[in-house]
Amino acid sequence: LKDGVRLYQYKGFWIPSPFLHPFIFNQPIFQLQDTDIVLSTFPKSGTTWLKALAFAIVNRSHYPLKHSPLLTNNSHQLVPCLERDLYAKIQSPPRLIMATHSPYGLLPVSILNCNCRIVYLCRNPLDQFVSHWHFRVRLREQTLLPVSLEEAFEMMCNGVQSFGPIWGHMLEYWRASIEQPEKILFLKYEDLKEDIKFYVKKLANFLGCPFSEEEESQEMIKEIAKLCSFDNMKSLEVNKKGKFSNGFKNDLFFRKGEVGDWKKHLTPSMAERFEKLLEEKLEESGLTFKKL
Ligand code: PPS
Repeated sequence: LKDGVRLYQYKGFWIPSPFLHPFIFNQPIFQLQDTDIVLSTFPKSGTTWLKALAFAIVNRSHYPLKHSPLLTNNSHQLVPCLERDLYAKIQSPPRLIMATHSPYGLLPVSILNCNCRIVYLCRNPLDQFVSHWHFRVRLREQTLLPVSLEEAFEMMCNGVQSFGPIWGHMLEYWRASIEQPEKILFLKYEDLKEDIKFYVKKLANFLGCPFSEEEESQEMIKEIAKLCSFDNMKSLEVNKKGKFSNGFKNDLFFRKGEVGDWKKHLTPSMAERFEKLLEEKLEESGLTFKKL
């Protein structure tokens, strides 16, 4: 990728070098509890947002929202990444929440074989692509060498992108969520943007911690949605000035947070080509994305 990160094809997916080790060694992770939570995303599909939402929902009685650690920490600091914080048992009270970009089929068996919940979040691939493109451009300000947008787009159409192909990643989780709806919740970024309160409630129900009538009357759902909103998170001091453990600036994770931004970056013919390809790949699966 011309920036020091290499992509390795492993069992049908392109895994970036910093994440490769756990996949190759496929080490069993510690025993998970049935109450543990795995947040799974394709990169740049709303991981930062989903981590904040799950953390706020699950820990709401432990940490009242006014004193939420989300006000002083980037959500990536609060929810460990399975591949990076590899197989270390990190506790986030009262329930363990961890995140991964792993394709479903490459998840450790200890996740697949227990009753923990998996929440999968994906995003319109064109917006995901543009978001990742900007992330790499902004990273370059810190460390990297250029890859043109056209070059990156061509690679995506060939399935060559971190954890790609994106259609394979989404399809594996989609099919698994149909087979095991009690274990896997399949969500789309665009749906959350459209009606976040509905999805905060849905997440709480799915994660086994539904809102009580009293909480609903206190507008807890609205408060969580507000706390985790793009505007609020982006404006927090920790996300404006803070740095991630690997040296990335926290503000890299907040750009626009919009649906349909790809239109400002891709030509109609690029979009048409990709939409046709996606239609072929998702054919008959029942998984669709609204035309933006
Ligand atoms: S990463 O590196 O994979 O963890 O990145 P990820 O968080 O998945 O994706 C980054 C994009 O998500 C936007 N973002 C948000 N959208 C809505 N609400 C909240 N709270 C939020 N936080 C981050 C972020 O701006 C990136 O999207 P783009 O389109 O680049 O703005």
